[in-house]
Amino acid sequence: MTAYTAPIAALLDEHCDLLLVGDSVGMVVHGLPNTVGVTLEMMILHGQAVMRTAKRALVVIDMPFGSYEGSAEKAYDNAARIMKETGAQAIKVESGETVPDTIAYMVRRGIPVMGHVGLRPQAVLVDGGFRAKGRTEDEAARVIAEAKATADAGAFCLVIEGVAEALARQITEAVAVPTIGIGASSGCDGQILVTDDMLGLFDWTPKFVRRYADLRGEISEAVRLYAEDVRARRFPASSETYFSKT
Ligand code: KIV
Repeated sequence: MTAYTAPIAALLDEHCDLLLVGDSVGMVVHGLPNTVGVTLEMMILHGQAVMRTAKRALVVIDMPFGSYEGSAEKAYDNAARIMKETGAQAIKVESGETVPDTIAYMVRRGIPVMGHVGLRPQAVLVDGGFRAKGRTEDEAARVIAEAKATADAGAFCLVIEGVAEALARQITEAVAVPTIGIGASSGCDGQILVTDDMLGLFDWTPKFVRRYADLRGEISEAVRLYAEDVRARRFPASSETYFSKT
């Protein structure tokens, strides 16, 4: 699952094999319209927070838009900075056509890399929005080629986002590394979700997301009750000790 903060990472850690500090943090936490505005500094700050409480899960940090596409050397420098300043175990890049060479460059120099194919959120501005991928034969062939090139370049794992089941299965069979699906059916080896989506923190979620909780409703009700208490001047008696464990 995705994690962006220390307390949420602490809760997810015992249940998840992998925690992704996704650049979805830009949309989910910072209210950006897409992930294009996310910076390296944001990813490092959230990565450090997650690393303080994740004890057993593998922590992977997304490289943000503009931090790896320009050249393999620049990608390596930025990836090394993320690894050094956070202590995370790996980074993730959206694989596209040009990125596999950069993945190979980074892997040869000691950076574990996760790839991401299919719907690539950092490409929404050229793709015309968040749309499922591989709906034509040509497009499906392109996604398979990108997945193979990413795995051949040395990525240890692949996120497949927003493709139909048949294509997810084809990719999973075609590559030797594990595939992790998001909106890509059960045809992948593993699954990942944006945590805030499945916890029901938004009034809108992608169609494939099951809401396992209604935190939006719970938070709204909790704040309403608190406001009522404040108006009625109902407070717990003050105590000698400031903190109490619940
Ligand atoms: O940024 C993110 O949360 C992701 C997931 C959608 C896999 O890349």
